[in-house]
Amino acid sequence: MRQRKVKNEEERLSEHHRYLIQQPQEKKNRWHEVFNNSNEIFAEFGCGRGQFILTLAKLNPDRNYIAFEGRGSIILRALEKAEGADLKNVMFIKEYINDVNEYFEENELSGIYLNFSDPWPKDRHSKRRLTHRRYLEGYQKVLKNGSHIEFKSDNSDFFLFALNEFKNCGMKLHESTMDLHGTKLEAAKVTTEYEDKFKAAGKEINYCKVQV
Ligand SMILES: C[S@@+](CC[C@H](N)C(=O)[O-])C[C@H]1O[C@@H](n2cnc3c(N)ncnc32)[C@H](O)[C@@H]1O
Repeated sequence: MRQRKVKNEEERLSEHHRYLIQQPQEKKNRWHEVFNNSNEIFAEFGCGRGQFILTLAKLNPDRNYIAFEGRGSIILRALEKAEGADLKNVMFIKEYINDVNEYFEENELSGIYLNFSDPWPKDRHSKRRLTHRRYLEGYQKVLKNGSHIEFKSDNSDFFLFALNEFKNCGMKLHESTMDLHGTKLEAAKVTTEYEDKFKAAGKEINYCKVQV
């Protein structure tokens, strides 16, 4: 994701304490207290400027959403939008997720979204892919039994790699297509910023939904 330099990044991030969670590891197993309700919790890893998660939060006020993004200048845009929309069911974490179990207890999440995650095309970097089995094994622990991971990508090699990893981890393929917008699947209705760009350029979008 292209990054513009932002002046006073730390200071500007600190203005958004309502939406930006500090010391998120300390909230493990306490996320319901953070949201002050017992609604189900869904997470997105690598949310960019937040278009996708903020749309979901508006559409589903009875669900809670937590979105991770490592780059401060990018998450800042998501925080500004959340503030503008006055949403109560979405929170952001400015961290690069490495081990999901640091943040969530077993069965604490009801779904995970991975949208246009960095493909790390070199084989020697495959462990950095958010669909590598080392991540998937973590997702399996924190997700409730029977819940879903949804994955979108413009990169077919990365998509095929992910399908293979999901299968090797024993996850059940629920929906899969290499042209999401040529289908009537629900997942085509809520798009990400990257997805809109690729779609506008005529590129087909790979999508799958797996059950843990
Ligand atoms: C290609 S962009 C896609 C952004 C957005 N999901 C979309 O579809 O428009 C990938 C984003 O994931 C973030 N990212 C990459 N690895 C991450 C990680 N381990 N944890 C959190 N964010 C990550 C990057 O900083 C970047 O903003």
